[in-house]
Amino acid sequence: MSFTSNVNVLFVCIVISSALLYYLSLSFSSTSVSTQVAHTHFKNELSTHNTSLKNGLTLVDSQERFPEIVVAVVACGDRLGETLAMLKSALIFTEWWQPLRFVIFSDDVLMPSFKEKLTEWKLLVNNTLEFELHPITFPKKGNAEEWRKLFKPCASQRLFLPEILKQTDSVLYVDTDTLFLSPLKLIWKHFSAMNSSQMAALAFEHEDPNTGWYNRFAHHPFYGPYGVNSGVMLMNLTRMREFHWEDYVIPVYKEFKLKITWGDQDIINIIFHYYPHKLYIYSCRFNYRSDHCMYMSVCKSAEKEGVAVLHGSRGTFHSEKQPAFTAVYRAFEEYQLGTDLNQHLEMPLKAYLEETSGTNCGQIHHIFTQAMDKYILHSTVLP
Ligand SMILES: *[C@@H]1O[C@H](CO)[C@@H](O)[C@H](O)[C@H]1NC(C)=O
Ligand SMILES: *[C@@H]1O[C@H](CO)[C@@H](O)[C@H](O)[C@H]1NC(C)=O
Ligand SMILES: *[C@@H]1O[C@H](CO)[C@@H](O)[C@H](O)[C@H]1NC(C)=O
Ligand SMILES: *[C@@H]1O[C@H](CO)[C@@H](O)[C@H](O)[C@H]1NC(C)=O
Repeated sequence: MSFTSNVNVLFVCIVISSALLYYLSLSFSSTSVSTQVAHTHFKNELSTHNTSLKNGLTLVDSQERFPEIVVAVVACGDRLGETLAMLKSALIFTEWWQPLRFVIFSDDVLMPSFKEKLTEWKLLVNNTLEFELHPITFPKKGNAEEWRKLFKPCASQRLFLPEILKQTDSVLYVDTDTLFLSPLKLIWKHFSAMNSSQMAALAFEHEDPNTGWYNRFAHHPFYGPYGVNSGVMLMNLTRMREFHWEDYVIPVYKEFKLKITWGDQDIINIIFHYYPHKLYIYSCRFNYRSDHCMYMSVCKSAEKEGVAVLHGSRGTFHSEKQPAFTAVYRAFEEYQLGTDLNQHLEMPLKAYLEETSGTNCGQIHHIFTQAMDKYILHSTVLP
């Protein structure tokens, strides 16, 4: 009797300690996260691999440990293909145990296509994905038509996310012309690095004064020495609501509407010019644009650790101007979710990039695959 209960106690201890060890390895080393975890969202191998570990894991695998990552995007007009490529890259770079939610604002025309594709993907990843589709909505107090025309179709929508997503604490907002090239949790982690006054995170628009747009041409205030680019933005919506963000957007727009060039991005720059302590700055690898390599390589963090989020601003995913950007986009667009990442994404991507090595951005093409190499290598090799 006492022998049996001792064995039980021992067993429980082993389960708990292996769970703890597993959790510790998750929290302290991103490499071992990938080593333990199979194949991103697509293979639940760990759970069949070792039952006791799996049971142990449920003890610690709570929403608290792995908070949901929410990716928000606003897509209208001809942005469907681009947005789906971005969402696909987000799924690729999210492990199966990581809760993931897509919040998509779109015009009515695109709505059915998003619904169809995301329903298909959700089945493919066994419902570990949640998604919400919202119509473009403006707050009652502004002039809806004026906002609609402010920038590219519906781009000002995201200025109203704190008001419209009242139930949501935080989102990672991205432009449709972005692609994730590294695990989303690396970006999301910046939320915990923010201090209590910071409500958003952005990267600088430029790294040096000679090519900076804002410092040379802007006729309105902007953040810091070179301004910020708003294409990849962590938004703590709770804090933005506490700040009453919307109350600043409309007066700023009214005051500067004749002076702003880049629409919503300029409004964001103006607000953070007056409230700089509310903004957290992350490095250029989290919003890597062709400006970072078109003349010479200026983004040191990407050289060191690889590009984390690629941003094909000014049409670079679709034009011939930056073949390296087009090559990355092509590989993601062609990749079918659920198929082997090494064979069907990484290998073609490297081949396409190889062809661009004669260009300025192409000659440093390893920076586009550096983070992916590490992720795929570890995620396919089980312990
Ligand atoms: C989804 O669940 C099915 C049935 O339980 C299983 O056969 C399949 O391998 C799972 N797929 C993934 C990607 O986990
Ligand atoms: C799981 O791992 C533990 C400890 O390594 C081992 O004792 C147990 O037999 C394994 N269970 C299975 C189902 O492989
Ligand atoms: C956002 O801010 C609120 C209020 O300060 C805080 O409770 C919450 O944890 C923050 N969210 C994230 C993801 O850090
Ligand atoms: C947060 O960091 C910013 C920028 O370093 C600073 O200006 C601000 O005072 C800090 N806030 C707190 C509460 O520490």
